[in-house]
Order: sequence, then structure tokens, then C-alpha cells
Amino acid sequence: MTNSDKRKILVTSALPYANGDIHIGHLLEYVQTDIWVRFQKSRGHECYYVCADDTHGTPVMLRAQKEGKTPEDFIAEQKANHERDFAGALIGFDNFHSTHSPESKELTQGIYLKLKEQGHISSKTINQLFDPEKNMFLPDRFVKGTCPKCGSEEQYGDNCDNCGSTYSPTDLKNPKSAVSGATPVLKESEHFFFDLKGFEGFLRDWLSNDDHVQLEVQNKMNEWLDDLRQWDISRDAPYFGWEIPGEEGKYFYVWLDAPIGYMASFKNLCDRTEGLSFDDYWNKDSDAEIYHFIGKDIIYFHTLFWPSVLKGSGYRTPTAVWAHGFVTVNGQKMSKSKGTFIKAKTYLEHLNAEYLRYYYAAKLSSKIDDFDLNLEDFAQRVNTDLVNKLVNIASRCSGFITKQFDSKLSNIVVEPNLLAEFTSASDSIAAHYENRDFGKAIKQIMALADKANAYIAEKEPWKLVKSEESKLEAHQVCSMGINMFKVLVTYLTPVLPSLAQKVEDFLNLESMAWSTAQNVLVDYEISKFKPMMQRIEMKSVNAVVEASKEDLEAEADKENKAELSDPIKEEIQFGDFDKIDLRIAKIAKAEHVEGADKLLKLQLDLGEGVTKQVFAGIKSAYKPEDLEGKLTVMVANLAPRKMKFGMSEGMVLAAGPGGSDLWILNPDDGAQPGMRVK
Ligand code: MSP
Ligand code: ZN
Repeated sequence: MTNSDKRKILVTSALPYANGDIHIGHLLEYVQTDIWVRFQKSRGHECYYVCADDTHGTPVMLRAQKEGKTPEDFIAEQKANHERDFAGALIGFDNFHSTHSPESKELTQGIYLKLKEQGHISSKTINQLFDPEKNMFLPDRFVKGTCPKCGSEEQYGDNCDNCGSTYSPTDLKNPKSAVSGATPVLKESEHFFFDLKGFEGFLRDWLSNDDHVQLEVQNKMNEWLDDLRQWDISRDAPYFGWEIPGEEGKYFYVWLDAPIGYMASFKNLCDRTEGLSFDDYWNKDSDAEIYHFIGKDIIYFHTLFWPSVLKGSGYRTPTAVWAHGFVTVNGQKMSKSKGTFIKAKTYLEHLNAEYLRYYYAAKLSSKIDDFDLNLEDFAQRVNTDLVNKLVNIASRCSGFITKQFDSKLSNIVVEPNLLAEFTSASDSIAAHYENRDFGKAIKQIMALADKANAYIAEKEPWKLVKSEESKLEAHQVCSMGINMFKVLVTYLTPVLPSLAQKVEDFLNLESMAWSTAQNVLVDYEISKFKPMMQRIEMKSVNAVVEASKEDLEAEADKENKAELSDPIKEEIQFGDFDKIDLRIAKIAKAEHVEGADKLLKLQLDLGEGVTKQVFAGIKSAYKPEDLEGKLTVMVANLAPRKMKFGMSEGMVLAAGPGGSDLWILNPDDGAQPGMRVK
């Protein structure tokens, strides 16, 4: 590549909220971006991939309070969790920073001051709902009440889940603060506004260029452009964020500093990277390219506000903003109760990241359609393509090379035309990656893998190798196989970086950069083949789903503890109560349950030779050995339930707030196993 072909590219993914865990829906975006970035790097371009945690705003502030932490401590913990998950998913950020950083503060305040100087900021007094107990203004999502349109209760302040109408929180009937339960009052406050309306001409022009946004996005834009308003960029204290310079007690709304986080992360990278200049990328006349990968839910912020804020403060605007659709699992929105709300951490505990990366790649296009992860199809597709087709080429050919031919590849390419089909696909596959049509790239690569397998199947080297006169041909065929395999893996390096690393070792290569696909290995020593990728077992996939249901239970537990007041259930009659057979039981045996975080397995002695097995969630309070011999009260007539770990034939009762404070009875003279509790 000549210097003038070398592009300077800065790429970002949306900044994940600090108050949430990374899940497989998020991963679609980070995998999509990461593949594109790895592709650009492998083509020899100067490409940087930056991201950060999105740390500011009311939800983070309240969540930290609820957990009894400072927001700083809370976001630091979350950052470590996010970084762990991203590393596990092989997301190769050049920098993962935080919006709660000095760079972010400086850039946000600087941009605001420039906007103000240019006359793009105004202020106005508005009326907003205020929680008189918590002493804070309430964001829309923190007001609940009765929908003004359909009368449905417990609706959020911005729109109704039941009838879908949108309204302002002051329209809600019987509004309550979701923070304290208090009835909010209207209170005046001065807010600061960014003059988005003033950028209409610029935006119409910017958005009409289909290099900047996808066509589907453009169509949507036209509706929005007709209805541009002043954008409220301020929030009142208490707020976790950056103070507005010169305006005491006023903070920047999180969505102002969030995209500036892209710049802040890059600035942080520049400050510790020799020769990398922030201005080269962000100055008005920069010739570098800047791309933002985002989900379709945040298009508005990235294609209206963000370019206008950049324009108004004298920076360059993005080269393009690329949106993708939302992940559904098994055809439906990810669901906590179905176990399809799968956290990255849970997935990675059971399955290899590259399976998901491959499946996402195989299904991704440059469109913003939603995207279904069907778990069976996922397992099948990965097994067929990667294990049966791709890795199989190497495993079929390499044994002979190692054992019969001294680990050396043949000194000729016996089918140059066939190999040329592989190497000459380079431009077309590269174009698909460049256009984010990863599915098309994968299709073309797999069609070549089929060719390689058909060739080997036809030549049957395992037969050729048996006789002296055809042994040479066996060597040539297997060497062809290895060469074809190498080209395919080179094309797949953006998707499967860890597999590529294994192949690099196996083939003693120094690099698998894109252009090396053209290098043919002749008279060349390779290493011993080691297994590179296991099949996906459906039982691992099911384990992920089961574990995701467990995650849900753990979260529900946390919630309950934080709430303190657990509302009393619906009234029952004495007859209902009388059906419950409560008995004293002696804990005859207590054991740990492999793989369960909270459960202990108990054998309960009810006297007269009756025993029952029960799984009880009291592991947090008792060691099994301390329980043996103690008494408990159990529901003896509960219908047996099949649980993940076995049958549970009842329920034990313990009292206490939870965690390590749960009480079981100590044996004393009064109680005997089997006694009825009255
Ligand atoms: N913090 C904001 C973004 C600020 S960017 C300056 C945010 N965070 S998020 O954690 O909710 O989402 C991060 C990214 O993940 C977004 O682009 C979002 O669209 C994407 N996804 C979140 N759930 C998703 C799916 N189920 N499917 C695909 N992408 C998803 O928004
Ligand atoms: Zn309604």
C-alpha cells in the first residue's frame, strides 16, 4: 500500500450505560464494529476503535444510592465488569474510557462555551415535576401514574405501555414519584436550550447525502426535520454529571456529554500515544474518517443533535453514522422469564465468543432490520460451517503432512487454477466487509470452503497415501488443502481473531494480514495440528438459558432486599390455610449442590421413617454441616416439583431478612420431628 492509499479512520460504538450489564443484544453492536475495525486494520489502514462507559444521569445516581455507594465507586465497578465482558467477547478497543473523566469534562464545557459564544444557547424558565421528599426534579421515567388517555394505572411519565400514547408527565393523573412515592409538585426552574431549530438548513443538507446515513434512516429523518425543537440540555442538582460553567446548580443533561465521550476517549488515547493527534481527526478541515456505529434506538441523538453540536462548536462532522437493528432471541424480544435475556458474562461462562461472532457476522448486513438469534439455528450453523467445513479442511490434510511428509508442504501447487479462485476472491470479499455486508462475505467464504472440501473428497488423499506411486499426489492434494484453508482463515480473521491466532501458530506465519492471502506456501514447514474449535453442544446452549433464569432470580432477590417493604399477598380464607400441612422436620443431611449459587439439598426426617428431599435457598446463611441435626418447619404436603437439580418434595420455612440472616430452629425438648405446627 502506498502512503496515499492509507486511510486514517476513527471508529466508535455507542457508549454502554454504566448502570446496566452487557448483554448479547449489545454484543451485536460491538461485534459488528469490531469486525469492521479489524478488517480495516488488516488492510493496513490506520484505524482506531474507541469507546467508553456512559456514566452520567439520574438512573446512575439513584442506583448508586440504592446500593449505598458513591456514584464514582459504582461506575468504577461497572467499568471493570464491562471491560471483562468485552475482553471475553474479543472486542479489541484501542481505548475504553469513561465519560466521568477529565477529558470529558474539559471537552463538554469547552463545546458548551463555544456554542454559547456563537449564540446557539438560550435559557428559559420551565415548570417541571418535583419530588418534595427527595428534593429533586423528576425525569419523565421517574414519574408514574394513570394514563390520561386510557386510564391504565402505573404508567410512566412519557408514554403509556397500554395504549401507546405519548404525553408529558404533568398530564398523568394521580402522579407519584417513582423514587419516594410522594406526590410530585410543579416547580419552576431555569433551563438551558440548544438551538437545534437553527441547524435545520445544515441538517437537511447533511442528511441528504447517503454517504452520511443509510437510506432507511434518511426516510425517517424527513419527518423529524419538519419538527425540530429547542433541545433542553440542562438538569438541576442533584445530578451526577458535569456542572454548566457559570450556572450554579445546573448540570449538563447526560445526552450532551455522552457523544462527546467519543472525543474524550480518543483524546485520552492521543495523550498517551506518540504521534497521534486529536486535532488531525477532529479539526474542521480534517481528512480523517470518523464512523459511529449505533443501534436504531439512538439515531435521533446521533444524526440530529450530534452533527449540529459539532458544527455549532467548530468541529468537523462524522463521515457517517451507521445504525443496526435490534437482536431478538428465538423470534422474540429478549425475555428475562424465558431465559433469553442473556448477559455477556453468562454466555461466556458456557460458550466460546467466536461462535457468536461468527453467527452475527453470517447474519449481518448494512441494513437496520432487526436480527434474530435463533438458538438452535445458531448451534447448527456454527457446527456446520466452522467445525464441519472450515476446520475440517485442515484436520483432514494436516495429519498426513506431519506423519508422512516430514511436516513439509509440497514444492508445487498442483492445482493453480483452483487456488487462484481462492486468492482472487480477495477484492470481492473485501468490498463486502467494507460495506458492512458481512453476511455476503461469509457466504462467499463458505462457498469456497465447500469447493475445498469437494476437491479433497474427490481426490481422497487417504487412499492415495496408501501406495508408493500415488503418495506424491497425496502430498500435493493435502498441501493444496492447507493452502486453501490458509486463504479462507485469512479472510475470516476479522470475525475469528482467536482462531486466526491458532492458525498462525499452526502454519508458522508471522502475519495473517489481508494481503498475505496471496502468499502461497510451497516447500514450507508447518507445525502439528491441534484441535482448533469444538462443536457447540445444545446442552451448553440450554445451560446458558437456564443460567439466565437464575440471573433473574438473583436480581429479584436484590430488588426485594432494597425495597424492604414486601407487600402482603391477597387475603386467603382459613380453609386455604388449613390445607397447608406444616410439620417440624429434622435436617438429617445437608449438602452443596454443584452449580447452584443459592441452594442446598436437604434430606428431612419427618419421623416414623418418612423422609423428604428439599432444595432450599439458604446457602447464604448456613454451612451444610451446621444444619445437620437442626429442626425446621416444612410444608410437608407441597406437590413435588422437578427443579433443575432434582426433585424437591416440600418447602422449608426460615425467618429473617435474607442473606446471612435466616433462621432455622434449634433442637430443644419441645419439638419432635413429624409434629404438626399449629
Ligand atoms: N448510553 C447510550 C448510548 C450513548 S452513545 C453516545 C445507550 N446505551 S445502551 O447501553 O442502552 O446501548 C448501547 C448500544 O447497544 C446502543 O447502540 C443500543 O442500540 C445497543 N443495543 C442495546 N440493546 C440492543 C439489542 N437488543 N440489540 C441490538 N443492539 C442493542 O444507548
Ligand atoms: Zn394509556
